[in-house]
Amino acid sequence: MQLYEVTDKNKTLLHNNDKKAKKEFETNNMMEPDRQFHFINLCKELILDKKSQLGRNLTYCVVTFGCQMNAHDSEKLKGILDEIGYEEVEDEKADFIIYNTCTVRENANLKLYGHLGHLKNLKAKNPEMIVCLCGCMMQEPHVIKNIKEKYRFVDIVFGTHNIYKLAELIYTYKTTGKTVIEVLDKSDDIVEALPQKRKYNFKSGVNIMFGCNNFCTYCIVPYVRGREKSRKPEEILAEAEALSRVGVKEIMLLGQNVNSYDGGISFPELLERVCKIEGIKRVRFMTSHPKDLSDELIEVMAKEDKICKHLHLPVQSGSTEILRRMNRRYTKESYLELVSKIKKAMPDISLTTDIIVGFPGETEEDFQDTLDVVEKVGYDQAYTFIYSKRTGTPAATFDDQVDEAVIKERFPRLLKAVNDNNNIKRYEGLIKEVLVEDINGQDQSLVSGKTEENITVHFKGGSDLIGQFVNVRLTECKGFYYIGDMEDK
Ligand code: SAH
Ligand code: SF4
Ligand code: F3S
Repeated sequence: MQLYEVTDKNKTLLHNNDKKAKKEFETNNMMEPDRQFHFINLCKELILDKKSQLGRNLTYCVVTFGCQMNAHDSEKLKGILDEIGYEEVEDEKADFIIYNTCTVRENANLKLYGHLGHLKNLKAKNPEMIVCLCGCMMQEPHVIKNIKEKYRFVDIVFGTHNIYKLAELIYTYKTTGKTVIEVLDKSDDIVEALPQKRKYNFKSGVNIMFGCNNFCTYCIVPYVRGREKSRKPEEILAEAEALSRVGVKEIMLLGQNVNSYDGGISFPELLERVCKIEGIKRVRFMTSHPKDLSDELIEVMAKEDKICKHLHLPVQSGSTEILRRMNRRYTKESYLELVSKIKKAMPDISLTTDIIVGFPGETEEDFQDTLDVVEKVGYDQAYTFIYSKRTGTPAATFDDQVDEAVIKERFPRLLKAVNDNNNIKRYEGLIKEVLVEDINGQDQSLVSGKTEENITVHFKGGSDLIGQFVNVRLTECKGFYYIGDMEDK
């Protein structure tokens, strides 16, 4: 399903391929997003011609690595590709393949090179195939150099600042036949109103801000995503309202640190306004940095029924000294105090977190502090990562990198602490409202959905339940998910 705000001007551009519009393009005077709608039209013609020449449809596949922000960017890329006439398939044998890359840890980079190795053979078999790389990894000059030297079959490359230009880049590639590489250092504007194709038609991510200003010393994100830019509240609310009109019930507000949202109103104010939209039944957000999670946010969360009682609050480390070296700007004590405050206001809240093991200089004592925080907080889920050295970040130059053997010894101890202290069993026997998402991949007689705490529940049911809220008794806790029984419909 697609969604975009069609203004009168866009409508004219979409349906009017006349020479006048083309002339306007030639003079290069068009503003965004009109300019992109124009390129969408031009690409449409090219794709139509190609299809009739080949006597078949042309297909695309978008492969996403990385976080929710990247996944949402992929929905925008898919929206454009659908609009210009490609048809989505899951298979990497498609005629147009995009890898939307991540570079937050070394593993993410290696994954891309693995896929590219395999693609070279596929491309040799399909002369129509266009290979496109975009996303965070493309913002790194050494990656671009490597691709130019070793992966010459790649056709189109762009970064995080110009994904909205996909149609223009395709048009340039198709009309010149030359590799197109456009990676920008930054972007000043936010281009609104282009098409999006959502994975689900009952829930959707909505960007509220882009970039990050925090410069945690281990993290590459501020370098590849640029400085923080907040969308205007009017734009966010218009998007959320448009989504609710087409049946979306759950919205996830997205940003690297939603607590520093600054669109003229604060993040809690924005939340309150989103909650006023009638059709929207659940509101989530991601991610919250502990350093600036305000009392106002806790108050709004506690009071607004529509805001899911789930908070992802990455701690990264439990040691005050490591946190200082990570530039996280909170201490072990202040984090624990914040957690107490949150639990006092919302005793049933589900807390989840991210933890890094083996940050440079991490001693056994520092690690014990991390275990202590895990024990004291009782997270419902913790995403645990081995520290990965990212070229260009301050921590990569710290001279006290931790030995691999030490990290290997600590990592399972952390996993055990997360499992032993997770609090997820407390829901056993309770009836929870579940938004049903899919038929279960392994057992077709089951459906899978999420509680407001973001806990996955599998229970007996059919595809008619997808997109519905149903009451489910959580009967059996299976580690980080539940098996349940539907109570009613
Ligand atoms: N903006 C979010 C995090 C985005 S990155 C926040 O600040 O919470 C997601 C997670 O990846 C981080 O929380 C961190 O735990 C992990 N991460 C980031 N850089 C890393 C690195 N160099 N090595 C290991 N894990 C890293
Ligand atoms: Fe990275 Fe820190 Fe920004 Fe999160 S807040 S994206 S960890 S720099
Ligand atoms: Fe990865 Fe970029 Fe997200 S580096 S974690 S995809 S912001």
